[in-house]
Amino acid sequence: MPSTDDIPARRPAVPAAPRRTARPRRFLMCPPQHFDVRYSINPWMDPAKPVDTRLAEAQWSGLKRLYEELGHTVEVIAPVPGLPDMVFAANGATVVDGRVLGARFRHVERTAEGPAYLSWFTGHGYTDVHRPEHINEGEGDYLLAGRTLLAGTGFRTDPRSHAEAQEFFGLPVVGLTLVDPEFYHLDTALAVLSDDEVMYYPEAFSPGSRAVLRELYPDAILATAEDAAVFGLNALSDGRHVLLPDAAVHLGKRLRERGFEPIGVDLTELLKAGGSVKCCTLELRPR
Ligand code: ARG
Repeated sequence: MPSTDDIPARRPAVPAAPRRTARPRRFLMCPPQHFDVRYSINPWMDPAKPVDTRLAEAQWSGLKRLYEELGHTVEVIAPVPGLPDMVFAANGATVVDGRVLGARFRHVERTAEGPAYLSWFTGHGYTDVHRPEHINEGEGDYLLAGRTLLAGTGFRTDPRSHAEAQEFFGLPVVGLTLVDPEFYHLDTALAVLSDDEVMYYPEAFSPGSRAVLRELYPDAILATAEDAAVFGLNALSDGRHVLLPDAAVHLGKRLRERGFEPIGVDLTELLKAGGSVKCCTLELRPR
């Protein structure tokens, strides 16, 4: 009789996580030299709470270094004094196929950032640049998933901008309505992980938009309230590595199960203004 020791152990019937490959990216970032919380345009911002600009600079530099170590290219735009939120480069534009849709901010405190970012693009060889008619806060509310633009509205970006973006890029735009002021930009409530995978916090969306997300992404990773509250969805995926706030532990686990490599990042000073990894990063997608 063969002993049971001879029987090879059966592997549990769990499907293997897919192999993930990173694609090198080009990013635009803005150093937080003038970062501060001097006004409040979202519920995270409390001007009474002191900000440690040196610590913000160290945390931001850590993120930039991490991108470079992962093989990505980071371009830097000069920060403008008097624009404390300019560090949130994601809001500066939306760039797809080398075409640039400029940003137009909702709040007067950030208005001057629109032209500042636009002039960076015109000064760096971008010729297909669209000056926006309607309010849109760049990649804060526009996230490219495959060849579809997911587009947020509800707090910042005007829904009329969605049609403007669709016409300019010639890509389908799917509008999604945000309903919780804590998650005022799409990139605070949803992150694109690959061409056809996302993670999001359902409670941040209107019932109709939740249904749309279920329809498009039935297998999406759903964030818990705890993940969302530490800005875990303000993440950046290169197809393999997912950089996200280190406090988002539940999301980290879910990502690992799917074959991604989560990398926790500490950007707590920037969170005082309601921003983290993705907010600090604008992707420059070439033609
Ligand atoms: N204080 C900034 C604002 O409220 C934070 C922007 C965060 N950026 C983002 N992409 N979500 O406008």
